[in-house]
Formats: sequence, C-alpha cells, structure tokens
Amino acid sequence: MKLFLDTADVAVIREMLPTGIVDGVTTNPSLIARSGRVIAEVIAEICALVEGPISAEAVATDFETMVKEGDKLAAIAPNVVVKLPLTWDGLRAARAFSDKGIKTNVTLCFSVAQAMLAAKAGATFVSPFVGRLDDHGADGGELIEAIRVLYDTHGFETRILAASLRHPAHVEAAALAGADAATLPADTFKALVKHPLTDKGLDAFLADWGKTGQSIL
Ligand code: E4P
Repeated sequence: MKLFLDTADVAVIREMLPTGIVDGVTTNPSLIARSGRVIAEVIAEICALVEGPISAEAVATDFETMVKEGDKLAAIAPNVVVKLPLTWDGLRAARAFSDKGIKTNVTLCFSVAQAMLAAKAGATFVSPFVGRLDDHGADGGELIEAIRVLYDTHGFETRILAASLRHPAHVEAAALAGADAATLPADTFKALVKHPLTDKGLDAFLADWGKTGQSIL
C-alpha cells in the first residue's frame, strides 16, 4: 500500500521525506488555505521534491471551469493528479481528463455508489473519507472494504486512496480492507511508529547494554 502525506506544508514534507516511505502528497483547498501560499507555487515546489503523485484540487463547481483549472494544475508538473469533487460535473471532468491521459483523484467519496461512478468515469484514484464518515456515525473502514469488493468484482482499475485518516487504527483498517493507498496528515504518519512496548523494550535493552561497558564502534 502506498502512503501519501496529506499536507500543503512544504516544511513538513521535507521533514518526512528522509523516512523513505512517503510515496506521494495530497492537498485540498483547506490545506492550501492553511499554507497561506499561492496554489501554483506550492504545488510546483512539492512536485519538485516528491516524485510520486501530487494531488491538486480544482475548486470550480461547473464542468467547463473545472477543466480549465485542471488543465492549469496538470501543466505544473507531470506528477500532478487533478483532484475533483464527486459531483456530476466532477465526474464529467474526470472522464475528460482520463480521455486525454491526465490522472485524477475523485474526492469526497462517502458511498459505494459514488465509488462506482468514480470508477465508471475513469478516475485514477477515488478518495473515500474514513474519518469524516466515522464523525457522521458510520464506519469508514467498512466503506473501504465494500469498495474493494466492488472494484474486484467488476474489474475496475481505479485505485482506492483512503483519506481523512485521523489515527493509526484508521490506517490499519484501510490497509487490511485492501486500500491501494492511504493519505495521512503528518501527526497520523508519526503516530504509526509509536508503541509503548517498543519504547519500554528499547529502554530496557539500553539499560542492560550500559551495564556491559561495551561499545560497538
Ligand atoms: C485528502 O485527500 C482529504 O482532503 C483529507 O484526507 C481530508 O481529511 P480531513 O477529513 O481530516 O480533513
């Protein structure tokens, strides 16, 4: 499963890149707003840093303007993935981009029916929002499982990009449900490595090692 960083903060990306496990980046209008930067500039900078797919979202709600925005975003770098909302206009734009070989990420997916439409529209990625579904009293992990079954049953090639992942249990659920990729804010990314028994075990090993008086180097 690919792991993407869900941020428009270049400093965070620079900090996490040396781990070697960041496969791409996703942004959305809220994250761009939070960065306080011009979208074209920040997306160009991220694309220069990270080789993998970088999602940049169109903000128009009508097909024609969405296509113009998507074309402009896609021209920034070859690894830009045009992110589009799961609306009829967004789906129509996804089909138009798919037909001309531009990758898309159809976002704000909250149901199996929506995921089916994204696949039918030729989306490269579909982004089901696990955390926001949980907030809504539903089970986001179950949605990922159901989309996996749907896509495998019908041979859809759209990749499932689990989004809105707020804690490690969300990431584990998405991975076990067969998501192709997951996008995580830096806090969730950093939390993945933590386990109290790892810290406790390491402390004990180092205390015992200290008693030997040895040095490996
Ligand atoms: C990513 O594509 C989404 O925009 C993001 O994961 C949403 O996360 P949130 O629900 O925590 O805002």
